[in-house]
Amino acid sequence: MANHSSTSSILCASFNQDLSYFAVGTRDGFRIFETNSGKLCYERAVGAFVIVEMLFSSSLIAIVGAGDQPSLSPRRLSLFNTASGAASKELNFLTSILAVRMNRERLVVILQDKAYVYEMRSLSIVDIIDTVPNNKGLCAFSPCLDACYLALPASTTKGSALLYNVMNRHLHCEIEAHRSPLAAMVLSSNGMYIATASEQGTIIRVHLVSDATKSYSFRRGTYPSTIFSLSFGPSKELPDILAASSSSGSIHLFTLGFASHPRSMSSSGFLGSIIPGAVSGVLDPAYHHVLHDAVPAGVKSYVVIRKVENLTNSSSSELLACRAILSVITYNGFFKEYNISINARNELSWALGREFNLLTVT
Ligand SMILES: *[C@@H]1O[C@H](CO)[C@@H](O)[C@H](O)[C@H]1NC(C)=O
Ligand SMILES: *[C@@H]1O[C@H](CO)[C@@H](O)[C@H](O)[C@H]1NC(C)=O
Ligand SMILES: *[C@@H]1O[C@H](CO)[C@@H](O)[C@H](O)[C@H]1NC(C)=O
Repeated sequence: MANHSSTSSILCASFNQDLSYFAVGTRDGFRIFETNSGKLCYERAVGAFVIVEMLFSSSLIAIVGAGDQPSLSPRRLSLFNTASGAASKELNFLTSILAVRMNRERLVVILQDKAYVYEMRSLSIVDIIDTVPNNKGLCAFSPCLDACYLALPASTTKGSALLYNVMNRHLHCEIEAHRSPLAAMVLSSNGMYIATASEQGTIIRVHLVSDATKSYSFRRGTYPSTIFSLSFGPSKELPDILAASSSSGSIHLFTLGFASHPRSMSSSGFLGSIIPGAVSGVLDPAYHHVLHDAVPAGVKSYVVIRKVENLTNSSSSELLACRAILSVITYNGFFKEYNISINARNELSWALGREFNLLTVT
């Protein structure tokens, strides 16, 4: 989520693979926070950073400078050890690094027209993928080793994505998701689903990666808006909720599977059957909930669904509500957390759980 905009105090923000920590890059350095407690765990103030990516809860992080000083070149990736306070390895490129993704086996570096895939331990190159011009460094990566997919834009004029399996170096499929170019995409943590939005930002689509079939279409709104981030719920099996943050200042929630059987919810569960077929092309507003004015309009934001739990009636074991916690980083320097609940009548309630300033907390 690298972005170098003169109005934001946050230059980049990213959660680690299990959402237990998050990192922000600022004009002064970078800061790492524990998500649950909001505690500042690590701080380094040596200059501006545009990429800070963590590898689970390990002390290894990938950092890229903003280029304000020669030692922090935007073309150099440092694998930095927060325990020793030193870079363990540096990789230099001919052009600016636009995005970095990692899991325990692979390191992916996105440049404007290439994606480099490395073996994590040895840092030997596994693959170099030529891409269409990808100025925003758009990509999606699944940290799951069994379905370790990397999604990259396939076109600069249409909203299609190429999905590579970076473990076996195999082009898996092309997904033609939108008519206009892609603006955001994310893979579910199990690598099974990909959600996409185009530059129009009016429709969000979810595809099943295994056979590239369209599974869900959601209408976010009638007027175009920039989708800043997309996030699936953390479920290990089938993701039950998808969240989107946009320039309108709203956070959108889409329930997957749940609303397709609203009356038989207790039997089918919130997840219902996400395996689509029948729901192809659905634009049902019942799937859609909006948190209006949850973030400042026009300010870039990054939302994740950190926890999802079912509230069941202990005597009848009937499902009463689905509760979730949404964590949001806004690029004007704040962390916000919303508690949400969707009851059995499909009604949303939400409240601000906590909020703090990412720049001033010590
Ligand atoms: C919620 O309930 C459904 C159906 O009972 C179940 O399949 C699902 O795993 C539950 N989700 C969570 C997060 O507990
Ligand atoms: C829970 O289930 C019991 C037995 O079916 C019912 O009497 C009770 O009203 C339910 N409670 C709620 C909060 O729905
Ligand atoms: C939000 O949820 C957290 C954890 O479940 C809880 O401690 C807190 O009291 C809730 N806050 C509000 C405003 O509901």
